[in-house]
Amino acid sequence: MKVKKAVIPAAGFGTRFLPATKSMPKEMLTVVDRPVIHYNVEELIEAGIEDILIILGRNKEEITNYFDRSPELEMLLKSKGNVKLLEMTERVSEMANIFYARQKEAKGLGHAVACAKSFVGNEPFALVLADDLVYSQTPCIKQLADAYEKYERTIIGVQPVPEKDVDKYGIIDGSALDEHVYAVNALVEKPALNEAPSNVAIMGRYILTPDIFDMIDQTTPGKGGEIQLTDALRLLKEKEDIYAYAFEGKRYDTGDKLGYLKATVEYALRDGALSEQFSAYLKTLFEK
Ligand code: UTP
Repeated sequence: MKVKKAVIPAAGFGTRFLPATKSMPKEMLTVVDRPVIHYNVEELIEAGIEDILIILGRNKEEITNYFDRSPELEMLLKSKGNVKLLEMTERVSEMANIFYARQKEAKGLGHAVACAKSFVGNEPFALVLADDLVYSQTPCIKQLADAYEKYERTIIGVQPVPEKDVDKYGIIDGSALDEHVYAVNALVEKPALNEAPSNVAIMGRYILTPDIFDMIDQTTPGKGGEIQLTDALRLLKEKEDIYAYAFEGKRYDTGDKLGYLKATVEYALRDGALSEQFSAYLKTLFEK
């Protein structure tokens, strides 16, 4: 079965990015010339996803405004004959079928995913964490969705991380089935290095089936009183096989200050209009 729906949870507080996130969603932080969430919607469209549900919390109206029409701005650009910017602005509001749901309290990622139950219905769906960017030749979600079509199992996007970082991620213990695919034996949330079963970490990309919703219902609040998706996946694992897919691409955690800066610099260096001047500027910073 093809994956045609996607969910982007964007209701977290973004405390790592305070004070900016006091009044603006971290998903709207700009990498070069577009907000982080724009890249993720683009990834989903390129992967053939037709309908996208964004889960919002309070103070997230900027996200709905961004994907909406902007009649005053469009009129101004039209009157100035700025066709290129006009087309670019209009394109954003026509990018995809975007729907919204509201998570009334930020009770964790698992709780946010549960808000997508009626939207998802009885189909597999992609889950993309709004602050994780993946730069890749084949869109990350397409890599996972293709694996889903082959195996028809829940697929968790993973990548190896340096050992010093295993305590920042959900970590899997898996048996390799091929170059990219693991059968998951166990999942551990943010283990200490000496308790980590591997260095293969869960990144912000998943293909889930509607079975996850019953598991979330049965999940008791974990760390920080939040309902963790990893805990729900562990319950699901007791009932059915789940797989992990080591995707190709460079992943950036833009919800973290250093990750955000890395994304900004590297996306700017990849931008045809900026790269030459920007890399020349960066070189001057390191000249003695
Ligand atoms: P994070 O833990 O990275 O987001 O959650 P956060 O809580 O906003 O950030 P910090 O740690 O305080 O800086 C991963 C994803 O899950 C969403 C977030 O918006 C983010 O995209 N999320 C998290 C929700 O939608 N609801 C929640 O209750 C928690």
